Amino acid sequence: MNFEFTEEQLMIQQAARDYAQRELIQDVLEREEKAEFPARHVKNLAELGFLGMMVPPEYDGGGMDSVSYVLAMEEIAKVDASVAVIMSVNNSLVCFGLNKYANEEQKQKYLKPLARGEVIGAFLLSEPEAGSDATHQYTSAEDKGDYYLLNGTKNWITNGSSASTYIVMAQTHPEKRSHGINAFIVEKDSPGITVGPHENKMGMRSSDTHSVMFTDVKVPKENRIGDDGFGFIFAMKVLEAGRIGIASQALGIASGAFERATSYAKERKAFGTEIINHQSLAFKLSDMAVKIENARNLCLKAAWLKDNHKPITVASAMAKQYAADIAMEVTTEAVQIHGGYGYVKEYHVERLMREAKLTQIYEGTSEIQKIIISRSLIKS
Ligand code: CAA
Repeated sequence: MNFEFTEEQLMIQQAARDYAQRELIQDVLEREEKAEFPARHVKNLAELGFLGMMVPPEYDGGGMDSVSYVLAMEEIAKVDASVAVIMSVNNSLVCFGLNKYANEEQKQKYLKPLARGEVIGAFLLSEPEAGSDATHQYTSAEDKGDYYLLNGTKNWITNGSSASTYIVMAQTHPEKRSHGINAFIVEKDSPGITVGPHENKMGMRSSDTHSVMFTDVKVPKENRIGDDGFGFIFAMKVLEAGRIGIASQALGIASGAFERATSYAKERKAFGTEIINHQSLAFKLSDMAVKIENARNLCLKAAWLKDNHKPITVASAMAKQYAADIAMEVTTEAVQIHGGYGYVKEYHVERLMREAKLTQIYEGTSEIQKIIISRSLIKS
């Protein structure tokens, strides 16, 4: 087994690290306070090729592998998890889904500008009454011959207002339950779409999260992805890949907090010595380091499996559940190590702790990941 990265993977990691440490760090606190969308950074990351990283060059993407994606996501999320989630949704939920399942015409029209990062996308599965229970889609897509008529409400949509391209799941044949769901490419400026107010979130405040309402929205038939009734499997397959992105984001949040806690513990003195010399603190840092290393290995393994076209359902669920849960633990300990300073904004760790919480909730809660993992055990 080879644990070494290639030169290209290391270059991508370094480019992400440089951008995060040089640019994102400058205004992350201000943007988070004001809940301001990071438009300038999204544009710069697009120029670096980070919005369509794994899309092949023929569709204007970076042609990079998933391992590079994990490395870049970790570096970006260390500094700014809001920017990381914008990247993750565009790369793995939107571009991955279109690249793998859309037809040639759809790729030419929609994937290319998304991969270039000229526009960004959003993935609309969750509803007010259907979050974890994703098969129960209430949004309807009535088949009207040469178009579908979309009605319903989607909730918690990352990039809800800033996206130009939506991937929307909706029910066409309710009697068929999950096999009646379709996935559609919907242009956000279509008549009948209303975007709700910006959700005032606890963390990741500069990523824009909205509800989106559809009232008699006409979607051309050619915008359906795959065969009639493929929409739920599409959503599940896309989420499997997406969870590698969120797992890497959680990993980055944890390692960002760990780096800050370690530096602080080497500088801060108490009882006549730097606090890292107190075993109670050194052991905390040691536990954090082991958890982060485990999370990184799970993320990289899931990415390697994906790059080698092997099943990722369980590997990505394990990576997502573990990385999100340890991100919460590690960031909480990082605040503890900082003492009172950890509770104020300038030291960043309280923000990282608030950001970690969301990774246990979106793209499938930690409990949903355990359902996926345990079902595989029952089947085996
Ligand atoms: N691959 C292929 N097929 C799959 C599949 C997969 N990974 N998962 C399920 N299916 C199939 C099943 O085999 C089943 O098919 P049959 O009826 O032919 O047997 C069908 O889909 C229905 O599946 P289940 O019976 O397993 O359905 P369930 O109701 O028990 O739920 C679940 C399954 C895994 C819990 C699913 O509902 C789920 O993943 N829920 C979480 C949803 C989620 O992650 N939402 C996140 C929203 S997106 C977001 O957060 C993005 C953002 O903005 C950041």
